[in-house]
Amino acid sequence: MTPKTRAALAAVLFLLFAVLLGIGQWRGHGKTPRAEKLVSPVGDCRQCHAEAWRQWQQSPHARAWSSPEVQAAFQHYGFDRKCQSCHAPQPILVAGLNRPVAFRAEGPDSGVACRSCHLLPDGRGVAARRALPDAPCRPQCEPQLSESRLCGACHEAIYQDWQASRYCKEGKTCRHCHMAVAAGEKDGGSHRWRGSRDPQWVRSSCRMDCRREKENLVVSVTNQGAGHNFPGERHHRVLLVQVIQRNAAGEIVLARQQVIKGVTPFRGESSAEKIKAGETCELQFPVVQPPGTADVQLLYKTFPWVADRDALVVHRTRLKLEE
Ligand code: HEC
Ligand code: HEC
Ligand code: HEC
Ligand code: HEC
Ligand code: HEC
Repeated sequence: MTPKTRAALAAVLFLLFAVLLGIGQWRGHGKTPRAEKLVSPVGDCRQCHAEAWRQWQQSPHARAWSSPEVQAAFQHYGFDRKCQSCHAPQPILVAGLNRPVAFRAEGPDSGVACRSCHLLPDGRGVAARRALPDAPCRPQCEPQLSESRLCGACHEAIYQDWQASRYCKEGKTCRHCHMAVAAGEKDGGSHRWRGSRDPQWVRSSCRMDCRREKENLVVSVTNQGAGHNFPGERHHRVLLVQVIQRNAAGEIVLARQQVIKGVTPFRGESSAEKIKAGETCELQFPVVQPPGTADVQLLYKTFPWVADRDALVVHRTRLKLEE
């Protein structure tokens, strides 16, 4: 090869390279970036939304994959992908809320994370209540974000309970209760999602009233605070009433408990055991050797193997039993 042909070849190669570069740039320009790529150049959501992140980190959604209980259950089911899908989901608005939730293989440890609920399809940005074109994550107004249906994509049973309740008719969605902002928190929806592990929250779900009816002590429990059945959708929640009666001498004359919602092995869950939103469940106990006193307790357990002394005392009261 003479120096002349070598120079000509180099020039041709350079031209070809320049043309290809040009075409590449031209194509890249017109195309919208992919949804996954959109937010990654500005890093994760944490650096700019520290408060939402901090709340989420303490929430059950952050533990949806890593919780030891969940991992133990996965082992039992042979690490089935379908089973794991809601615990480490692909962004649910990308697939569409009417499609089954798909499993996300990258970073399953972060469970139900920011992108799971916020990422929009076609690189449009993140789902928000209003459009903010100048923000780096490009928030778009997406009404589906604030609907109960978003939660219902994973919380199937409780979503159906809610639909049957008066809260649905009144337009009071999951978010109105579960993302309500507590005093001192920034406006815009709490990302803590309090539920069965928060004593105050469980207490707010119901009221307990006791009254004497001749030979009986009637205990009634009213679901006045939950927007769905109480206990909620998990099979293994337990709710029971304990009564201890003493006579005038202070001796125990009756120690009895009745289960409102229990767990029976090898049997499907019965929704009849749960107290529907706004409804009341009544239990009767005999009145033994009055006069005396009755101590009544409503106990709640997240798992059936929790001992009575470790159960959450939802409500307790002492009654005088006249002769
Ligand atoms: C580089 C910083 C940055 C990153 C990273 C970022 N955002 Fe934003 N985001 C902003 C700014 C700034 C706003 C506008 C805030 C405002 O005006 O209240 C905003 C607004 C929002 C809003 C609307 C808030 C409102 O007031 O209506 C949502 C929702 C949101 N971001 C979600 C996300 C999510 C989810 C991620 C991660 C996938 C993310 N953001 C990543 C900076 C960022
Ligand atoms: C359709 C979505 C979905 C699928 C599929 C799913 N889960 Fe869940 N799982 C949930 C939701 C939602 C909760 C939270 C419900 C609650 O705590 O009331 C949950 C909670 C749990 C918990 C925690 C219970 C507790 O006491 O807090 C375990 C353990 C669990 N799931 C295991 C599994 C196993 C094992 C499978 C597969 C057989 C599975 N899940 C499939 C949505 C799903
Ligand atoms: C389970 C779904 C879900 C997850 C997970 C989630 N969000 Fe949200 N987020 C929502 C909903 C629903 C709203 C709207 C609340 C409303 O309508 O008031 C919201 C609102 C917001 C807002 C707007 C608040 C405002 O000031 O108006 C920001 C910012 C935000 N989320 C950021 C995040 C970040 C950051 C993460 C991860 C750490 C995250 N979200 C995880 C469902 C979710
Ligand atoms: C009127 C307020 C209210 C509304 C509306 C509401 N909830 Fe609840 N929710 C509660 C209260 C109070 C509890 C605590 C009692 C309990 O643990 O069952 C609770 C408990 C839960 C639990 C935990 C149940 C368990 O046993 O693990 C989940 C999950 C839940 N709600 C999801 C939802 C979803 C999803 C929606 C919308 C479809 C919704 N909630 C609507 C008040 C509400
Ligand atoms: C992508 C699936 C998914 C979506 C969407 C989702 N959740 Fe969850 N949620 C879960 C899973 C899985 C858990 C169980 C975490 C655990 O217990 O380990 C959970 C737990 C909860 C709990 C605590 C349950 C308990 O045992 O106390 C509440 C409350 C809750 N979610 C409310 C909501 C609300 C409200 C929305 C809608 C804004 C929502 N979730 C959207 C999957 C989801």
